[in-house]
Amino acid sequence: MRVIQISDTHLSAEHAFFRANNEAVRQWLAAQQPDLIVHTGDLGMDGAADATDLAMAATWNTGFAAPVLCVPGNHDVGDVAAIRPDQTVDDARLATWRAHLGPDRWAVDQGGWRLIGLNAMLLGSGHAEEARQFDWLAEALRSDAPVAVFLHKPLFIDHPAEGPRGYWTVTPEPRQRLLALLASAPVKLIASGHLHIHRHLHHAGIDHVWGPAASFVCGDSQEDLGGARRLGAVVHEFGPDRVTSQFVRPDGLADLTIEPVGNLIYGRPEPVE
Ligand SMILES: [Fe+2]
Ligand SMILES: [Fe+2]
Repeated sequence: MRVIQISDTHLSAEHAFFRANNEAVRQWLAAQQPDLIVHTGDLGMDGAADATDLAMAATWNTGFAAPVLCVPGNHDVGDVAAIRPDQTVDDARLATWRAHLGPDRWAVDQGGWRLIGLNAMLLGSGHAEEARQFDWLAEALRSDAPVAVFLHKPLFIDHPAEGPRGYWTVTPEPRQRLLALLASAPVKLIASGHLHIHRHLHHAGIDHVWGPAASFVCGDSQEDLGGARRLGAVVHEFGPDRVTSQFVRPDGLADLTIEPVGNLIYGRPEPVE
C-alpha cells in the first residue's frame, strides 16, 4: 500500500504568493497512483478566520486518482488558547471544517494497516471534543493490525520527555496522555506537518516523520528545530509490518519563505507555521 502525505498547502483565495508551489504539488500528485492521499493540515492559509480558504481546499482536493483524507491544522480550525487566545479551536470552527472537509478524526483499515487521523488542535484545548477524541481513539486502537497515526502538530521536537515547545508541538500533558494510549497498540508511524520541515526520527519503535510543506518554508522567524527546511511530499510504502517513508520534491517548486509576506497575510510578525 502506498500513501502519499502532503501538508501545509496554505491555500488562499486572497493571496497568490504560494499558488505556483501549490500547483506544482497538485500536478505531481495528479500523476501519481497512490492508494490514499493524506493531508496533514493547514490546508487553508487562514481558514480559521475565513471559510473561503477551506472551501478552496475542498475543491483543490478533488481530481486525484486516490481519496484524500485530511486532518485539521491551526490555520484551519484554530489553536489552543495558550497559543492563540484570539483564534481558539471552538464549535463554530469545527463545524465549518466538517462542512467543507468532513470528519476531523478518522480511522480506516486498508492494506493490512489501521490508519488513524487525529485533530491535533484539540489536544490541550479543554474543548469537550478533546475528551471525546481520546475516548474514540481508545476504541480505534483496539487493533491487531499495525497502526499509523496522522496529525498536524508533532508530539515533540527532540524527545517525548521534553518540556513545552510553545507553538511548535503538542503540549506535554496531552502529549504524555496520547503516547501512553498509543503504547496500547502496535503503532509504527506518527506522521505530522505544521513545522514546514522534513525530518525522520525513530524513537521507541515508532517512526516520527515530519511531512514537508507544499507552500513555503520558514526562515528567521523559526528557531532551529532540526530536520531540513525543504518543500515537497512524503511517499509512505506500507509493508506487512513496517513502513518506509521517502521524501519527494516535485518539479517546479520554488524555495519561498514566509517572512517577506507573513505580516501581510496574517497581520502579525510571529511564526505562522
Ligand atoms: Fe500549522
Ligand atoms: Fe503550516
